[in-house]
Amino acid sequence: MEIMGEITKRILILGNLGYVGPELTKLLRKKYPDYHLTGYDCGFFSKFYTTDLFAPDNLLDVQLYGDVRNTEKLDLSQYDTIIALAAISNDPIGNKFESVTVDVNCNSLVAIAKRAKVQKVKSFVFASSCSVYGFAEEGDRTETSEVNPLTAYAKSKVKAEEELKGIATNDFNVTCLRFATACGMSDRLRLDLVLNDFVACALANNHIEILSDGKPWRPLINVKDMGLAIDWAIHRKNQVACIVVNAGSNDWNYQVKELAQAVKEIFPTITISINENAAPDKRSYRVNFDEFKRIAPNHQPQYDLKRTIVELKEGLEKINFNDKNFRNSNLIRLNVINELLIKNILDQNLFVIKSN
Ligand SMILES: NC(=O)c1ccc[n+]([C@@H]2O[C@H](COP(=O)([O-])OP(=O)(O)OC[C@H]3O[C@@H](n4cnc5c(N)ncnc54)[C@H](O)[C@@H]3O)[C@@H](O)[C@H]2O)c1
Repeated sequence: MEIMGEITKRILILGNLGYVGPELTKLLRKKYPDYHLTGYDCGFFSKFYTTDLFAPDNLLDVQLYGDVRNTEKLDLSQYDTIIALAAISNDPIGNKFESVTVDVNCNSLVAIAKRAKVQKVKSFVFASSCSVYGFAEEGDRTETSEVNPLTAYAKSKVKAEEELKGIATNDFNVTCLRFATACGMSDRLRLDLVLNDFVACALANNHIEILSDGKPWRPLINVKDMGLAIDWAIHRKNQVACIVVNAGSNDWNYQVKELAQAVKEIFPTITISINENAAPDKRSYRVNFDEFKRIAPNHQPQYDLKRTIVELKEGLEKINFNDKNFRNSNLIRLNVINELLIKNILDQNLFVIKSN
């Protein structure tokens, strides 16, 4: 669509009211003031802002509320690109709600993609995850390595990738970004992500309690750099119908205990404890991001670990964060879901049944 000489895209972001969505919205709005941006989300976490500024969702042109399992009324033909962030987004919730996880993270999004293709949407960007590699310590995993999904969450991502691959054509591009574990400040921060948890621990408790033995490997990516990768996927040339690529950077493969040490460099007085008796964490993986560097040289991660930790510290200080008990708070995704269930706002299949 062309307006006054400017190429304008119409983008639908599914699941925009979580952790990644606000940062993506800000990036797209800043870079592309003329784009028409619509968000669609059922709003599990919508009211848990971690910003003292205005709501990031105001940068959208339209905010729709609804479930990705129930989108018949959405007119997909209006959009050039659909970005699928909507998900049951971690293992603890996925383990508790296995079939919901497959339905939300895979079946519903694949059904939307199929309809989108018929309705002439041009591209579909899927937020996949490096957790598809499961346990992979010997040799960094590339896109051609075998996947080894160990949890309902990771399995749902593998299944969605496979089904989306089957739909992609030169007229309907699919990009599956296998993101490293996210970290960094967002206007809807989550503290159930390893680095975010450590910075919150340091700030509130002056102590990092590592729940594992500290040895698992995790590739990380700053949440703002996820937005950059999505920006690349939206605009990539359409010679290849489907691209599945690890999104992150080789420099960001860390062991959990190294992350804690990096936080200690910014908070020198903190103590760190390791749970030597913890059962070995089966989810430990190192990932190779060469392919992403090759195909998206201008959209490589910009943040380093130190800058991410400092930004988290400053962001949390700005909202006067001081919750010693934050692991029981509403900045943990599973806690919010449990609370919504107790209040009968969600039914057992996590459909919203009354307003929050
Ligand atoms: N955060 C990470 O470490 C990470 C890493 C790799 C991939 N990803 C993927 O990136 C995406 C975004 O992650 P996030 O951290 O922002 O997750 P999040 O949980 O903060 O946000 C997910 C959003 O999806 C919405 N949602 C969930 N079920 C829905 C449904 N049935 N209908 C409509 N909306 C629904 C939620 O309300 C929420 O706003 C997810 O697909 C996640 O799997 C995240």
